[in-house]
Amino acid sequence: MRLILIGPMASGKSTVGRRLSKRLKLDFIDVDEEVEKSAGVSISWIFDAEGEKKFRERENKALIKSLNVDNCVIATGGGVVLTEENRNLLKKGTVIYLQTSIQTQLERTLNDDKRPLLQESDNTEQTLRELKEIRDPLFEECANITIKEGKNSHNEVVGKILDKLNL
Ligand code: S3P
Repeated sequence: MRLILIGPMASGKSTVGRRLSKRLKLDFIDVDEEVEKSAGVSISWIFDAEGEKKFRERENKALIKSLNVDNCVIATGGGVVLTEENRNLLKKGTVIYLQTSIQTQLERTLNDDKRPLLQESDNTEQTLRELKEIRDPLFEECANITIKEGKNSHNEVVGKILDKLNL
């Protein structure tokens, strides 16, 4: 079994993924963390020093490596769906899309200093809307399962995923 969580920034992929992996006794892999581990520096540092293009290359390599692991839950970064290569790679697992409203993203990223795409922006809401317009169709294209946003806690989202997987 290989479950892959996709969705926009602050959709809860890492938290939900970690809890889901515990419930299912699977390994947990966070692609952003893998990028940081192999680079030895933070994502913000990579964006700053090397730019987004180089980050996307590192992200692609980390995704390929993560997908070589069986029996795991993988949390991805919000931009993983941007390339056709990555979208094809995601077919190596069951892809779960965590739909999230701009409002929730804004609330959760209010004091965020770890997401360079928001850090660089002087209008967070507009940036999130622009990203959403480009990425939502790509998330939908990749998703095998979509968890629609409601007033759900992370634990409720885990429950919904288990229901949809009939587990
Ligand atoms: C990004 C999302 C981040 C991280 C990087 C770029 C994006 O991950 O990969 O800052 O392009 O949306 P999260 O979705 O976990 O915040």
